[in-house]
Amino acid sequence: MAGDTPAFGGSLTMRKMILTTFVVPLGYHRNSWRRDGSRAEEVPGLAYVRDLGRMAEEAKLDAVFFGDIVHAGPTMRGDTMMNGFYEPMTTLAALAATTTNIGLIGTLSTSLSEPYNVARQLSSLDHLSAGRAGWNIVTSSDGFRNFGIAEAPAAADRYRRATEFVRVVERLWDSWSDDAVIADRAASKWLETDKLRQINHTGEFFAVEGPINIPRPPQGRPVLVQAGSSGPGLELGTSVADAIYTAQPDFDEAVKFYADVRRQANRAQAAGLRRSALPPKVIPGIVPVVADTSKEADEIAAELASFLDIEQGRLQLAGDLGVDLSDIDLNEPVPQERFDQIAQMTSRQAIYRRMSVEQGLDLRDLIVKRARSTGHQWIAGTASSIADQMQAWFEAPACDGFNLNSPYNPEGFERICTKLVPELQHRGLFRTEYEGSTLRDHLGIPRPTVLF
Ligand SMILES: Cc1cc2nc3c(=O)[nH]c(=O)nc-3n(C[C@H](O)[C@H](O)[C@H](O)COP(=O)(O)O)c2cc1C
Repeated sequence: MAGDTPAFGGSLTMRKMILTTFVVPLGYHRNSWRRDGSRAEEVPGLAYVRDLGRMAEEAKLDAVFFGDIVHAGPTMRGDTMMNGFYEPMTTLAALAATTTNIGLIGTLSTSLSEPYNVARQLSSLDHLSAGRAGWNIVTSSDGFRNFGIAEAPAAADRYRRATEFVRVVERLWDSWSDDAVIADRAASKWLETDKLRQINHTGEFFAVEGPINIPRPPQGRPVLVQAGSSGPGLELGTSVADAIYTAQPDFDEAVKFYADVRRQANRAQAAGLRRSALPPKVIPGIVPVVADTSKEADEIAAELASFLDIEQGRLQLAGDLGVDLSDIDLNEPVPQERFDQIAQMTSRQAIYRRMSVEQGLDLRDLIVKRARSTGHQWIAGTASSIADQMQAWFEAPACDGFNLNSPYNPEGFERICTKLVPELQHRGLFRTEYEGSTLRDHLGIPRPTVLF
C-alpha cells in the first residue's frame, strides 16, 4: 500500500547493524552472578566495568549503554538487574578515559532532574570523550518519594515535561556557536562572548535563562535515545530521538513497530516537530546465549535457570506489575483480572499480559522468562544460528540493530564479542573497524547545526 510506505527512503543493501550493549555487570539473567567466574565481588568497582567496556570496544560495538533507576525497590526484592549499581554519568566519565572509540550512552530522568544540570553533564561527557556521549531519556515510573514527591505523576504529564525538558537541553547546547572559543593569546581573548546567547525559555515546567557555561559539545548535540514503546513515550521518541530502545519479543509485532516508528516520525517531521531528517534507529534488546553447539547453549540456559529462586521471582514479578501475586498457583497463568488492576500499563507489562492471558504461560514459566530476558528476545544457540535470526530481523526490516544484553558476565559477554560479533562481521552485517570517531559517526547520524 503506497500510504504505508515510509517516506524516509534509502537502500537496505548497504545497511550495517547497530550493536550496542546494555551493561549489567552482574548479568542480565537474574542470579547469573552465582555462576563461577562472575566477578560478582567487584561490583560496583571500576576495574570490572573497564574490562567489559574494553571488550565491547575490541568488538567494535557502537556503544555501551547504562540504564538507571533512582530507587532501590527491585534491589529490596533481590533483583540485581534492574539496578545496575553503576551511576551512569560518573561511570561513563571514567570509561571515557579507559576507551577511545566506543559510544557512551547514559540514562538520565527528565522527571527527577533539571535541564540545566543535565545539559551540562552530557556536554561535559561529550567533551571528555571527544564526541562519544549519548543520553537515554527516561521519565521514571518510580522513585519519586526519594525526591520529596509522593506519587509518580501521570504518564501524560511526565512526557509533556520530558518534551519540554529535551527542547531546553537542546537549546542550551546550541547556546554557544561552534566557533565561540578562539583562544587568541595576543588579543587576550579565550572566547567571543557575542557568540553566546541567552535562551530565555519560559514554559509549563521550566524557566531557564541560559546560556550554558560549557562550549558546544563536539557532536553539536549528544545522541538522543529514548526507551519506551507505547503512547506518549513513542510520541516523544519519534519527535526528538535519534534512536529508540525497545523490547520486542515477537517478530510480527517488531515488523509492525518498525513501520509504525517510521510513519510516526514522518508525521512528526511533516508537522515540524521532528528536526532530524532521519527516522529514529530502532534498537530492540536481545539476550544471546552463545555456545559452540545448541546442546551446550541449552545446558548453559539450564544452568542459569537453576540459579533462580522461584518465590523470589514471584515477588519480583509482582513488583514489576505492581499487583499481588502471592495467591496464584505456580501452575496457572496470571489471570486478566490482575492485569486490570494496573492503572497505567507499560509496554513491558503488556508483554507479560500477552504471555499470560493470550499465550497461557503459567506463573512459573513467566517467572523464568522474566528472569532471563525481561520481555526481550532470548536466543540460545550457536553464533551462526543466533546470527541467522538477527539477520532475518534486520533484513525484514524489524530493526536497525540490537542492544545486546549479556546473559551472564564476563564469560557470556566475551562469547558475544568473540564469537557472535565476528559471525555478523563475516556476513558483512557489522563493521570490522570504526570508521569515524564520534557516536554520531558510528550511527550514521549527521552533526546538527545550531538551532537559532
Ligand atoms: C531497553 C529499555 C531500557 C530502559 N531503560 C530504562 C532505564 O534505564 N530507566 C528507566 O527509568 N526506565 C527505563 N526504561 C523504561 C522506559 O523508559 C519506559 O518508562 C517504559 O518502557 C514504559 O514505557 P512504555 O510503556 O512506553 O514502553 C527502559 C525501557 C526499555 C525498553
